[in-house]
Amino acid sequence: MLNGAFIFMADLVRAIDMPVTMDFLAVSSYGNAQQSSGEVELLKDLRMPIAGRQVIIVEDIVDTGITLNYLLRLLEARQPTSLKVAALLSKPSRRKVEVPIHYLGFEIEDAFVYGYGLDRGQFDRNLPFITSQA
Ligand code: PRP
Repeated sequence: MLNGAFIFMADLVRAIDMPVTMDFLAVSSYGNAQQSSGEVELLKDLRMPIAGRQVIIVEDIVDTGITLNYLLRLLEARQPTSLKVAALLSKPSRRKVEVPIHYLGFEIEDAFVYGYGLDRGQFDRNLPFITSQA
């Protein structure tokens, strides 16, 4: 999932010691805002079909769950053999839609976080760590 997951994805795939293919899609519900608009827009679709494939969605953060819920519905309709979710961060207190997270890095409280791929007004994705706004 671009853009936020690109650094997590890069580290994650280098820790996987088996044949994997990678593809990218972009969905945005935030734009430049720090709050989700609630409307999800598909900005870039996958290049490869996923029917009959074992698919893991890689997300940087699950907040309301709206983005991931949209994505799960979109990709389930393409009939992969399995569809799982790996997320670096989750804010369960913000959830509006229940979504499965099969592989989770960290549960965090409701603070605005950025760095390591996550943006602050599109900047700071390049910070080599995650931090929160004071
Ligand atoms: C962020 C993040 C998730 C989504 C989570 O993406 O990368 O995809 O929001 O929020 P939600 O659970 O409330 O839907 P964003 O729309 O900011 O785009 P980006 O990945 O390009 O930063």
